Amino acid sequence: GRYFGTAVASGRLGDSTYSTILDREFNMITPENEMKWDTTEPSRGSFNFAPADAIVGHASAHGQRMRGHTLVWHSQLPDWVKSLTDATTLRGVMDNHITTEMSHYKGTIYAWDVVNEAFADDGSGRHRGSVFQNVLGDGFIEEAFRTARNTDPSAKLCYNDYNIENWSDAKTQGVYRMVKDFKSRGVPIDCVGFQSHFGTGGPPASFQTTLSSFAALGVDVQLTELDIAQASGNAYATAVQDCLNVTRCTGITVWGIRDSDSWRSGENPLLFDRNGTKKPAYGAVLTTLGGS
Ligand code: G3I
Repeated sequence: GRYFGTAVASGRLGDSTYSTILDREFNMITPENEMKWDTTEPSRGSFNFAPADAIVGHASAHGQRMRGHTLVWHSQLPDWVKSLTDATTLRGVMDNHITTEMSHYKGTIYAWDVVNEAFADDGSGRHRGSVFQNVLGDGFIEEAFRTARNTDPSAKLCYNDYNIENWSDAKTQGVYRMVKDFKSRGVPIDCVGFQSHFGTGGPPASFQTTLSSFAALGVDVQLTELDIAQASGNAYATAVQDCLNVTRCTGITVWGIRDSDSWRSGENPLLFDRNGTKKPAYGAVLTTLGGS
């Protein structure tokens, strides 16, 4: 009952080894870069959806669902946005970006990463600095989620981040407090994405506790960008089992198909090798999912 997805790069869809594996193995797609602000609105009010449309078209032709990634993020953000200093202007720009992109894809997206990576890595448990944080203040995340809900009420709205898998980490606790606050005040949020970029050992021992603790707040949880340095079968099996053990863990996405497609290709972190051959981690995942 859970989906198993992958990140897709539009430029690789014409590679038949790539697309054959994609359509055989995966039923959820996240565009790796094509829905990010630097691609979709490179200059103010000028939108380019062609690269992402190619991926959405592929998904609809092959019965795959889509995760939208991502609407508000400090990275891959054009300089014209970064240079805004007036709150009214930036709020209008952010809301227009959300409504225009979400409207274009209305009805085609299962879940949106509305806000990505807004928390700091400094052990403070607080938001990181960004133009959104610095100009709009803490409320920018809530504003983005409310705007998103008004635009496409049928899409699930997720907060997505990395290094929030270990339950005791300050960053994890900061995100947990935000989700708890949103749920208590009726701010619309449906899901939390745990990127799950792991080292050789795979997920921390507390990962299942983290997933179930968030789920208990009343949100779905998902592994949204899973990759594991050197891709040990045990590490992959543990990550998948942690999700299976939590009812509201609705799916897993790996961040690419072959090792050569990965943003960390030097660490061979994926389920298929450079030739598109299944690695031992593939078998470990399949077995954990109950296949053979
Ligand atoms: O498209 C340009 C190309 O025109 C240019 O010639 C080339 C030269 O460097 O760069 C190309 O853009 C690159 C882009 O990927 C598309 O390939 C960027 O430099 C490169 O920085 C970018 O990397 C992406 C990275 O996000 C950027 O932050 C990765 O592909 C992508 O896998 C990665 O994904 C992120 C998630 O969105 C959020 N979580 C972390 C994850 C890993 O960093």
